[in-house]
Formats: sequence, structure tokens, C-alpha cells
Amino acid sequence: MSATLITGKPIAERIRAQVAEDVAAIGHIGLVTVLVGDDPASDVYIRLKHKAAVAAGIDATDLRLLEETSEAELLAKVEELDADPQVDAILVQLPLPKQIDEAKVIRALAPAKDVDGFHPINAGQLYLGEPTLVPATPRGVMAMLDEHDVELSGARAVVIGRSAIVGKPMAHLLLQRNATVTICHSRTRDLAQHTLAADVLVAAVGVPGMVTPDMVKPGGVVIDVGINRTEDGLVGDVDPGAAEVAGYLTPVPGGVGPMTIACLLENAVRCSRYRRGELAFPL
Ligand code: GUN
Repeated sequence: MSATLITGKPIAERIRAQVAEDVAAIGHIGLVTVLVGDDPASDVYIRLKHKAAVAAGIDATDLRLLEETSEAELLAKVEELDADPQVDAILVQLPLPKQIDEAKVIRALAPAKDVDGFHPINAGQLYLGEPTLVPATPRGVMAMLDEHDVELSGARAVVIGRSAIVGKPMAHLLLQRNATVTICHSRTRDLAQHTLAADVLVAAVGVPGMVTPDMVKPGGVVIDVGINRTEDGLVGDVDPGAAEVAGYLTPVPGGVGPMTIACLLENAVRCSRYRRGELAFPL
């Protein structure tokens, strides 16, 4: 048996086309990304986000601050952007240099401009199952599952990884859709016992090939969120041999990756609806 591949590009392109239509209808959406320092991986991500934002007609500003920037300086910049009526959406790229407390910076964002959905207000709304700004990668995964009509109600879903960016929001979105959700992590005993029962398995750990074919339920849906740079190029958290066991599998690259940026742009549209009062932000 060979799994059906769930590729992200066609779905992402459709989302981006819809965003471009929304931007044209709204007239102006201002997105500011902030990159502190010159981490090469972050630089690549920011460039990709910018290119996509500009292509959709979003007015995107690529703000770069020096590695030595103090926490107070960054907080002052965030507050300035919070107050700027031309700015709908703000993204502070993580990780931040060690002298800056990330949690403090995330808390300084105006929740309705928090395009990443990282602010505790947004995380809390998600926890409560209320509509809000939700991190882009797990939203992208949900769109991929929906594209293939994957039954979630009553399904056993296993998420490997408990990060605030992917694992935790992913688990909440699956729970909202009535899946029975298990979160596994580095201390989980007998991981395979959990994964083998998973109708839907989402791997978001950052360990190349850690999900081996013998850990996958035959016919199950496997979503690989891992993007690991290795000597062999970009590889996921799932061993590609899992395609012989799974019913559906997302490839790396070309799977979840393109969805993250598309859903981030959708979030920017949502931010603009909040700022314009078309949607009520829950505050
Ligand atoms: N660093 C890694 N992923 C992300 C992301 O989705 N958003 C931000 N702001 N930083 C990141």
C-alpha cells in the first residue's frame, strides 16, 4: 500500500488567492515583521513571509533590529506599532536574542494585532474554543485534513510535541473538532503504543525521521510538521517509509510548509477585520 500524499502547495495557493481578493476589497492591510539579529534561518523565514505578503497585496514592512537591541528598546518598538493605525498585524520573529524575554514581548503585542496568535489572550481563547487568532501552522494542518475530508469527530488523534507554536494549539484545534486527543512528548513512555492507535498522527518535534513506519497505524493519516535541515537536505520528523503503511501522508518539503505562510496571511486579514471593527475582538 502507498499513502496518498497531501501536498500543501495547491491548497496554499487557493488560500493566498482568496487573501489577495480580500486585500483588494479591504484596500489596505499593514503587516510589520520584526527580526532582531541575523539568525540565518529566521532571515529565510522572514523573506518568504514578506514575498508572500507582498504578492497578496499586503503592505508589508520588514523591520530589522540589531542583535544587541535591548528588551526595553524592542518593547518600545512593539508599543509604537500597537498604537499605529496603519499597522493591522505585527509579527515578532522567534527566537529572540538571549537578553530579551520572549514572553514579555509577546505580552506587549496588542492581542488583536498578534498575527501569530501567540499572545496569552489568543492562546486562552483557543483553549476555551472561542474564535480568535490561532497559530498559522496548526491552522494549515486543519485545512489539509479538511481538504481530504478526514473524519475527525470521534477519531483518535495523537500529537507528538507540546510547543506553544504547534503542538498545543494543534491539540486544541483537533479537540474542537471532537477528536480524542493525546499529546505525546519527550517524556512519553512507549510512544509507539500511542502512535499505533492514532487515526490521525501529527508529528511536530524537530527530530529527523523519529516516526518510523512501524509506529504508524495502517491506513492512518500522518501529518509531518517537522522541517529539519540535515546533510541530506530538508527532512521531516516522519521517515518517508511511513508512506508504505499510512493512508495519507504529508511530504517534506512541500507538505505543511507552504500552508503556514498562507494561513499567516489569512490571519493578517483577520487582524485587519478586528482593527476595522468588522469582527469584534473578545476584550
Ligand atoms: N519562529 C519559528 N516559527 C515561528 C512563527 O511561526 N512565528 C514567529 N513569530 N516566529 C517563529
